[in-house]
Amino acid sequence: MMAQPLNPFPERKRGPKLVSIEQERLERRLVIAFGFMSLIPILFLYWATTQRLELRTTLLLTIASALFGYFFIARRMIHAVVEVTQKVKALISGDLSGELEEHDANELGELARAFNKITKDLRSKIEALESSRDLVKKLLSRIGTAIVSYEGIDNLLSLIVENASSAMEAQLGSLMLVDGEKQELSVKAAWSTNGRHADQAFRLPLGEGLPGWVAREGRSMRGKAMASALGFANTEESVECAALCVPLKLRDHAIGVVTVLRERGAKPFTEDDETLLTSIGAQIAVAIENYRLNLDVERTYVETIMALALAVEAKDPYSAGHSKRVGFYATKLGKALGLDEETLHVLNHAGVLHDIGKIGIKDEILLKPTALTPDEMKIMQQHPLIGEAILKPVRSLQKVVPLVRHHHERYDGGGYPAGLKGDDIPLGARIISVVDTYDAMVTDRPYRKRLSVEEARAELRRYSGTQYDPALVAAFLDILNEKEMRLAAAKATGQKSS
Ligand SMILES: [Fe+2]
Repeated sequence: MMAQPLNPFPERKRGPKLVSIEQERLERRLVIAFGFMSLIPILFLYWATTQRLELRTTLLLTIASALFGYFFIARRMIHAVVEVTQKVKALISGDLSGELEEHDANELGELARAFNKITKDLRSKIEALESSRDLVKKLLSRIGTAIVSYEGIDNLLSLIVENASSAMEAQLGSLMLVDGEKQELSVKAAWSTNGRHADQAFRLPLGEGLPGWVAREGRSMRGKAMASALGFANTEESVECAALCVPLKLRDHAIGVVTVLRERGAKPFTEDDETLLTSIGAQIAVAIENYRLNLDVERTYVETIMALALAVEAKDPYSAGHSKRVGFYATKLGKALGLDEETLHVLNHAGVLHDIGKIGIKDEILLKPTALTPDEMKIMQQHPLIGEAILKPVRSLQKVVPLVRHHHERYDGGGYPAGLKGDDIPLGARIISVVDTYDAMVTDRPYRKRLSVEEARAELRRYSGTQYDPALVAAFLDILNEKEMRLAAAKATGQKSS
């Protein structure tokens, strides 16, 4: 149905009823005002002269006519024009709150209606822009968090896809990344209004379908697509959806695409939608790239530190393989205690890195074949703190740091560096303490021969509750089977079983 144009001059009812002067067109109002202010007084003066009326009465009637013309006709017109001028000035200075009265049926009424329509349109456009700006700010802030975060980029991308899709009033959304080697797209994050899931194993060759085309060409596109092109199962509603797809571009090549779909019956996407999603896509691309770069730097750093840990061991032939075995035993004990996979991973790292601080200890103390003097002991006891300082800058090893710092604490509070007691000592540090000492006891040292496994077990029992957490000693002794454990430990560290 065509919209009816606004009629500035509604048809007036005909009849004996006098039409208000305010409803007359400006030209007629000017003529009437002119009549009252000049023509009528002149005619009246002429008539009064011929009739020889009293001068005072003549002047009074003449002035009355002129004043009527001015106050009731001309002044109202001027007032209306002044009002419009003021509102336009306010509008130019950014005040959109004002509205003009629309009761006049003449040009002024038309102007008022046009003015009110313009301000209303402007208000709604500004609201839409502010809402878009808020959305972009929210998304950019989340993307900013991703840039400095090493965890949960997958969750963050899902969140961005969900927010972007909702903002676009789309029912389905997905983020796919390009696999350069296989020349295909894979689903990284997907979202739908009714909880439908995209198949994570779904792959789309570059150039195929809307997302494939956008990824290959590196250009955004509006059109139609099916839910199956994003890895979702097609439903009756999702056949032939309105689609918008933008590339995630880095240095002129697409590393992925973001696609949003509006299911059947919904309006198609606009140029504004495309502009907004393109700017979101640009930020996502930067976030993904930064995340990958940070991950590379982090991986290199961790590998360097691991190499350093082994370098420390290389100085002392007696401790060869010790760190890796400590990591192995700690993981075994953690598993027996029912700890989760992530904690087991932390335990393994802590085992390998627990003595990395020894890199800061002089060789004459570190490699001394006889017992250390009290002063030398003090220096040696710095190694957990040196280890902490080395590992602290590495984000991905943050959970390892307290385990390295406290691996020489004693259960009775007599250890170092903090003298922590009982459960105040982090569980992982208590675990490292038990397995570190056990491995040291069953390997040769420059100042003593290794103990047998039975002797080492007896030592652990002896110091259970004073040096070690008794629950951990009991659990470790339970799983400690000489043959199995030593063979497995040797295999894990690449050492020959002894
Ligand atoms: Fe140590």
